[in-house]
Amino acid sequence: MSTRETLARDLTLARERTLRLVEFDDDELHRQYDPLMSPLVWDLAHIGWQEELWLLRGNDPRRPGMLEPGVERCYDAFSNPRASRVDLPLLKPAQARSYCSTVRGKALDRLDALPADADEFDFGLVVSHENQHGETMLQALNLRTGPALLDSGAPLPTGRPDLAGTSVLVPGGPFVLGVDAVTEPHSLDNERPAHVVDVASFRIGTVPVTNAEWADFIADGGYRERRWWSERGWQHREAAGLTAPQFWGADGTRTRFGRVEQLPADEPVQHVTYFEAEAYAAWAGARLPTEEEWEKACAWDPVAGARRRFPWGASEPTAALANLGGGALRPAPVGAYPAGASAYGAQQMLGDVWEWTTSSIRPWPGFTPMLYEQYTQPFFGGDYRVLRGGSWAVAPGILRPSFRNWDHPIRRQIFSGVRLAWDV
Ligand code: AVJ
Ligand code: FE
Repeated sequence: MSTRETLARDLTLARERTLRLVEFDDDELHRQYDPLMSPLVWDLAHIGWQEELWLLRGNDPRRPGMLEPGVERCYDAFSNPRASRVDLPLLKPAQARSYCSTVRGKALDRLDALPADADEFDFGLVVSHENQHGETMLQALNLRTGPALLDSGAPLPTGRPDLAGTSVLVPGGPFVLGVDAVTEPHSLDNERPAHVVDVASFRIGTVPVTNAEWADFIADGGYRERRWWSERGWQHREAAGLTAPQFWGADGTRTRFGRVEQLPADEPVQHVTYFEAEAYAAWAGARLPTEEEWEKACAWDPVAGARRRFPWGASEPTAALANLGGGALRPAPVGAYPAGASAYGAQQMLGDVWEWTTSSIRPWPGFTPMLYEQYTQPFFGGDYRVLRGGSWAVAPGILRPSFRNWDHPIRRQIFSGVRLAWDV
């Protein structure tokens, strides 16, 4: 397939996914499930509005768009904090759907008409943006109370529970961190440019920390003992009353998209804050990785002395290599993807759960903002920690070993988990 055909396909797949996540009645779509999240109908129209701005209005908001100025103002993420979006004069679901579909029709016409040598970066950005909101919408649906709206998720491969708690060695030495437009034309601004970084030897978890391991931490008084927690972490633990990951219930159960079920012992733990991850690591005699360490363990091939496009090599992700795309609605058990191992033997680096790192989001040397100038830059230097590797909810086409996500260290409605690291 040409890149243009791939882009058209990925746009269509992203839209099919978005529309599946809004197949509910109008009241449902206007509901605010949690002050941390937007009503789903906001995400829907915001997806269309960004696409119109980037692809049809030359990224210039002074050029006329299809929406009234008073309406389009609702969809700017910066001037409308999430908690306030439910009170805006939003488009009704039918209007939002038809707006998105009109924009998409024109966008596909533009893609068709592009000269052969034209830059297609803006189309890739639209694919990434829409899919990132797909994950955000899943976070919202997971917070929703009431009888389940979604089914329980697609089947997943079985795991190798004995891999829990094991680690692999990543010998010290330089590697190439980040990527460039030539090798990864759709990489986002914060992933560029590629540059050499020296990393001391370390060990990293073969797989993420499991629910069973986390239950041991709780049983051992992990949430009661001050000594495992950082100063800020303990303050937050006390203030928020944290005693277990979010969505854990009594008697070894959890709630997932409105269904109460037995906690799967061998599944990577989800819905923990950075502060909990830090405390767990201290209790386990380990620490969290930096994002440089994480990316080296994921992408570097020490024999070839080069990056791999994916942990396992050059081939695109498939259902046999990683749990991605959102269909599973949960992480796969640890050890479920031996064929997806990195050169160092780390498994499930892509998919399943976002993994907290100790790094704050900062520019790589030579950072240049992309078309969406506000994507990363406003967050540099803020109170955020970088998460790596993507969750089960990430669309495969937008994820790379260099992909960087970030959030406040107190957040846990995201599909966040933990992979440990050790000094050697
Ligand atoms: C990269 C996930 C932190 O949701 O705030 C979507 C993605 N940016 N629309 C976010 C994003 C603008 C962003 N994260
Ligand atoms: Fe957005």
